[in-house]
Amino acid sequence: MPLDILVGAQWGDEGKGRITDLLAAQADVVARYSGGDNAGHSVTVDGRLFKLHLIPSGILQTHASCVLGHGMVLNPVTLVEEIDSLASAGVEVSPRRLAVSLAAHVITPAHRALDGAEERARTGPALGTTGRGIGPTYADKASRLGLRAEAMNDPDEFAILVRAHAERAARLLETFYGLPAPDPDDSARSYRELALRLRPFLADTTGLLADALAAGKTILAEGAQGILLDLDHGTYPYVTSSSATAGGALSGLGVGPRHVRRVIGVAKSFQTRVGAGPFPTELSGHTADALRGSGSQPWDEFGTTTGRPRRVGWLDGVLLRYASRLNGLTDLAVTKLDILGQLPALRLCTAYQRQGIRHPDLPGLPSMLEDFAPEYEESASWPQDVSGVREYDALPREARSYLERIEALLGVPIRWISVGPERPQVVVREAVG
Ligand code: GDP
Ligand code: IMO
Ligand code: MG
Repeated sequence: MPLDILVGAQWGDEGKGRITDLLAAQADVVARYSGGDNAGHSVTVDGRLFKLHLIPSGILQTHASCVLGHGMVLNPVTLVEEIDSLASAGVEVSPRRLAVSLAAHVITPAHRALDGAEERARTGPALGTTGRGIGPTYADKASRLGLRAEAMNDPDEFAILVRAHAERAARLLETFYGLPAPDPDDSARSYRELALRLRPFLADTTGLLADALAAGKTILAEGAQGILLDLDHGTYPYVTSSSATAGGALSGLGVGPRHVRRVIGVAKSFQTRVGAGPFPTELSGHTADALRGSGSQPWDEFGTTTGRPRRVGWLDGVLLRYASRLNGLTDLAVTKLDILGQLPALRLCTAYQRQGIRHPDLPGLPSMLEDFAPEYEESASWPQDVSGVREYDALPREARSYLERIEALLGVPIRWISVGPERPQVVVREAVG
């Protein structure tokens, strides 16, 4: 009856989809609990690349069923597109395999327009959102003005609600922001059609998950975004609008804490970030270019959802310790060790410095990060290509030292080391810790 929660331990794009796909081989149900189509999870199976934005990566393991939990915000347009594109790639996405929470909130064209308008109207620097309407949809949810997926059960009534919502948003866009608004009639018409498509997938997902746990099934919660983008615990205001942490998984799925077996943090072997906000270990120049890649490979550091080049930097051990504390990590998965090894020498941030004082832990909120200078430990890299390695002892000594230093910093065992995007490209260490 266990629940395993998988969270991104950095600013997103850690390889959550890739690790979820791996762990889903042993799970019965894979559930997303937060965020929307701002997420982009790339999974490669036998040379075929799948880009998932809403549907859990577990859909690619044919035995697993999937849940979109009520902590999510759903754009019905992209959800239908994703269902169709998976189906045309031969992946079954029937109501038997996919359940959408009745209580998830619906993103409309007006929410997307408001996302852009709010970005442009900010007094400070733009956040660099994905433009998917995430913030305005969660704001409507908190203001109790939102549209819930349950309304799609009656497509005619849903169309009326969508039109009323669009008319209200149009007044805001036109009078406050001076911008054109999506046509309320168009929105109502197209969302009525989408409701007809999605209605069969709607379900009481908390009941479904409770039944699964009672039947002894294993649930894997797939995080979206990273915990440093969490609305409460991240680098506010440079965050997303949902709860990306392990706590968010419990509330976003409606499962109690006693079911939790493991909390798995996924961390890239270096650090990346898309969008604005503090980034103490950020790099520029040749090293950054080498880590980012040119964009010619699918795993190069360009956003899955927006295509923007990702900011890159050295692994930040202080922030990883914060991630571990905040989520109660029991295990760690480290990705892209093959890419890090291409550098001639490595740095790992093990503490911050401010006014002559050393801080191995973040003394305060991550929004204060700009005040700190990273302190680095330097180490040798490894010249060997590790993408074919499958046993821990076969990794170069320098790679093992780097990983063991991370384990020592966190006090959390590294159980999975990913050395490439394909399913078999992983070193599994079940016996460690
Ligand atoms: P997510 O949002 O956390 O699921 O991560 P993304 O999918 O946005 O970005 C991770 C990228 O790295 C994807 O293209 C993965 O296929 C790729 N990837 C994951 N693990 C590895 C790895 O160990 N090596 C390489 N080269 N690529 C990886
Ligand atoms: P996955 O699940 C990386 C970032 C955006 C922006 C901020 C707010 O693939 O790891 P939003 O559109 O959510 O209001 O944007 O959050 N962001 C992500 N960065 N990976 C993601 O998802 C992200 N989802 C949102 O770039 O800085
Ligand atoms: Mg991503």
